[in-house]
Amino acid sequence: MCGIIGFTGSLPAKDILIDGLARLEYRGYDSAGIALLNDDDTLTIRKKAGRVDELRAMCSDREYTSTCGIGHTRWATHGGVTDINAHPHKCGKVAIIHNGIIENYYDIIREYGLADMLVSETDTEVVAALLDKLYDGDPVKTIKKAVNIISGSFALCIMFADHPGKIYAVRNVSPMVAASSEKGSIIASDLTAIISFSKEYFVVPEYHILTMTEEGIKVEDMKGNVVKPQMLEITWDIEAAQKGGFPHYMLKEIYEQPDSLRNTITPRVVDGLPDFTEDGIDDEVFKNCTNITVVACGTAMHAGIVGKAMIEAELKIPVNVEIASEFRYKEPLIDDKTLVIVTSQSGETIDTLEALRLAKRCGSKVLSVVNVKGSTIARESDYVLYTHAGPEIAVASTKAYSVQMAAMYLIGCRIGLVKGIYTEEKARQFIASLLSVIPVIEETLKQADRVKEVANYIKMAPDAFFIGRGIDYTLSLEGALKLKEISYVHAEAYAAGELKHGTIALITENVPVIALATQEAVYGKMISNIREVKARGAYVILISMDDKVDDKTVCDKHIRIPKQDNLFSVFATAVILQLIAYYTSDAKGLDVDKPRNLAKSVTVE
Ligand code: AGP
Repeated sequence: MCGIIGFTGSLPAKDILIDGLARLEYRGYDSAGIALLNDDDTLTIRKKAGRVDELRAMCSDREYTSTCGIGHTRWATHGGVTDINAHPHKCGKVAIIHNGIIENYYDIIREYGLADMLVSETDTEVVAALLDKLYDGDPVKTIKKAVNIISGSFALCIMFADHPGKIYAVRNVSPMVAASSEKGSIIASDLTAIISFSKEYFVVPEYHILTMTEEGIKVEDMKGNVVKPQMLEITWDIEAAQKGGFPHYMLKEIYEQPDSLRNTITPRVVDGLPDFTEDGIDDEVFKNCTNITVVACGTAMHAGIVGKAMIEAELKIPVNVEIASEFRYKEPLIDDKTLVIVTSQSGETIDTLEALRLAKRCGSKVLSVVNVKGSTIARESDYVLYTHAGPEIAVASTKAYSVQMAAMYLIGCRIGLVKGIYTEEKARQFIASLLSVIPVIEETLKQADRVKEVANYIKMAPDAFFIGRGIDYTLSLEGALKLKEISYVHAEAYAAGELKHGTIALITENVPVIALATQEAVYGKMISNIREVKARGAYVILISMDDKVDDKTVCDKHIRIPKQDNLFSVFATAVILQLIAYYTSDAKGLDVDKPRNLAKSVTVE
């Protein structure tokens, strides 16, 4: 969950590296640093705990003429957040940056007698010391030896002091993309850092060693065979990855949801029916499955839970939703009749990736729902249904959640059609309802000011509860996570009918309760549950399709969403929940886009 970047070319490297780190900072921001390789065979390291802007200030002390360097923004895994633990790490002639976890770093210290060479607490510095110990003047040969010794996940950029102008790189699991142009060669954790450099890039193949120079990038496998990587085109533009006039990426991405949904749904609708021909997804995978397992983490998992509610209600096909980090360490109850759906915005979440690999070993077909093109999860799946939300920069996932739900709905509708559970007419109605959520969300976004009022109340609360029944309960899980992760208000989601079996003991005077009541079939029961918490002093924020609710025994604030088919209210409800979290965090003056302790892509276990 760190951001790494390397550049060598005809331009001074310092600003290219720091600007790139600023774009990568959402991947982790405990500390930041750069290493510059000078023509006199010396290495300059500038690094510190804190944000990229603090590093930029540190590096404004003089001119740095080097045109070759590496940069890193850290999410701490081994060792505290200190200047010494910040990357890059230097040992003898070697400077290195790393994203991942070296699992056998402790054995390596003992086996190669490195202890006296180390000053930090990090696993990364051990790799630097190992490389320096093995170094015989041939960087590629040395890196091959080291790669055969270390185990774990790694994306490494390495410089050797006596090889000016050159950067070496190698990865296993942790992501890296690279590009070259007339300005030189660049490598980074993801496209956001290279987007202004080149429109063409390649994904660094695992266990291949890159030698980067001003002239270009050589890629060779562990046997020394030079390979030509598959070039891909960047479909984003730099504008798409910037804030577009919004105060935060998160708010921009909340407002992008109508476009994200349009771009994700419409390419899969042909003659009013769900159609995955362009995605190369074979109907056989739907025909053959008797059950579905969804595997994901965090918000992506919550989208899977909404998909479960819809598919089970509509198709009566059992759907099991698994937390990826749990799934991968058990004997999963899946087989060749199970369709495994892996959901991930980044396509690099290590737990989700390893769960995918386990599912394939169990003989299941894997369909992944991924937002980042060419990501590892996408490349390792049997089928991929890309969501087209565009770059999601804010750590808190919003538009990705909506398009993941839409993808689950498209898949459910296609399965219904292919299995004969849906007639064409029913499928057309379903798709029309799905497309209708786009204007509904545009309408819902007009409630933003009313949500802001609510947020000003919640911001003072130490705790908050989200309650709902049926599909509303699945949404409350996401509402609670959003509020927790960016406003630090402790929040809990609860099935409304379950509250009185214990947790209602926590409902006291003025505790905020966000109550979701969009489902007609359980509306009455939901109002009863709300009255139970209201009677105990709760401050109730009701989200429903009611035109107006003035009854003070039911709620203190009512946020209305436009009337629509109950199955499709999840999209508008999600927008309200995202805005509640956003405005609460902003009202508390917190860093909405980069909340403490978090990072955008969890590429470590
Ligand atoms: C969402 O707000 C969180 N940032 C987090 O739960 C995220 O959804 C989770 O880490 C999964 O990430 P992925 O979709 O990139 O796999």
